[in-house]
Amino acid sequence: MTQTILVVFGTRPEAIKMFPVVHALAADPRFRVVTCVSAQHRGMLDQVLTIAGIVPNHDLDLMKPDQTLDGLTAALLTGLGGVMDAEKPDWVVVQGDTATAMAGALAAYYRKIPVAHVEAGLRSHNIYHPWPEEVNRKIIGTIAALHFAPTETSAAALRAENVSADAIHVTGNTVIDALQWVSAKIEAEPALAEGLADLEERFAGKRIIGVTSHRRENFGGGLEAIAEAIRQIAERPDVALIFPVHPNPNVRKVMEGALGGLANVALIEPLDYPHFARLLSLAEIMLTDSGGVQEEAPALGKPVLVMRETTERPEGVEAGTARLVGTETARIVSEIFTLLDDKAAYSAMARAHNPFGDGHAARRIVELLGNVR
Ligand code: UD1
Ligand code: UDP
Repeated sequence: MTQTILVVFGTRPEAIKMFPVVHALAADPRFRVVTCVSAQHRGMLDQVLTIAGIVPNHDLDLMKPDQTLDGLTAALLTGLGGVMDAEKPDWVVVQGDTATAMAGALAAYYRKIPVAHVEAGLRSHNIYHPWPEEVNRKIIGTIAALHFAPTETSAAALRAENVSADAIHVTGNTVIDALQWVSAKIEAEPALAEGLADLEERFAGKRIIGVTSHRRENFGGGLEAIAEAIRQIAERPDVALIFPVHPNPNVRKVMEGALGGLANVALIEPLDYPHFARLLSLAEIMLTDSGGVQEEAPALGKPVLVMRETTERPEGVEAGTARLVGTETARIVSEIFTLLDDKAAYSAMARAHNPFGDGHAARRIVELLGNVR
């Protein structure tokens, strides 16, 4: 009998990490796969749906400008619950730690539908860093019947919370599947990633630093300190910073105010995934507070400076490719300058590792879903 699997996602990172699972489920006749996007993100979600060739079965179109956590969560619960009532899935699959993932798990629990959690067991052990993601994933961890942990570290975190060992499976992180898939696609069709040509020409001969920043816990002072660090770094004539700016108005306002018009800084719209992969390959260093970028950079051997106080992804730091640098201006600037000026420090970080997976996570996840009843 075919099983109906309802795959729920809503933001850019969930879409990137879920499309390999959707592709693998769709290719397996044991499953009827139903996709439901909350569209907690609109434009950035659609960029991923387009490249991955996914047309969702349900699109709740929930995003509101500058949405609040409670307004968003309330809309998610009722919207996702309605889809579950209509589709009556055997399993609900959620990914990561967003409001969509948390509400998807909770709505499934209210209907006693078992939940499978992709990217389970990440923990910073600080409920305000990252906020509100740490609590979201703990809620999902309490509900899930199947936990797909990307690494042994995340599996151990779940066991420490007394999750039954039988329910935990180390699969690797599907982001590595996604990155390999998009890299192969670009190789076959280079035009997919040629849209940065103008910037590449403008910054020819300069050392590129790729930047992303969007965390809610940094709104206000944290983002201002990050912007000031970027301004100081950009005073060096040998560097250029390429910064696709998150559309959240709290991020835009600060970054455009502090960095708009600087010669060595390109504030650009969010890149689609092939172009972001291109930026990862052009960049000498990545400076970010993103979760996903912390996982992708080590796979490509790109040093990544993480503008956070803690991380739930210690594997990149342990592998030596990532370093936590916090959100204070002086520290960010000095860490970047060390990497730019000290060849030994740079080479020590610039080694490719795959602590987050081998590119076969989605296949393992689908096998595991096929083996449970
Ligand atoms: C969300 C997730 C966060 C994840 C991040 C990835 C929660 C609580 N937060 O945070 O875990 O790291 O996505 O990017 O789930 N917006 C647009 N267009 C878009 C997307 C967002 O205009 O395509 C603007 C809207 O004004 C929206 C705002 O950004 O209201 C915030 O979006 P939201 O999903 O609530 O928060 P993020 O900071 O993106
Ligand atoms: N990304 C992208 N375009 C961009 C910036 C990021 O495609 O302009 C991708 C990046 O490769 C990674 C994911 O988006 O896979 C990370 O998403 P984000 O930083 O928004 O969220 P987080 O991972 O912090 O939850």
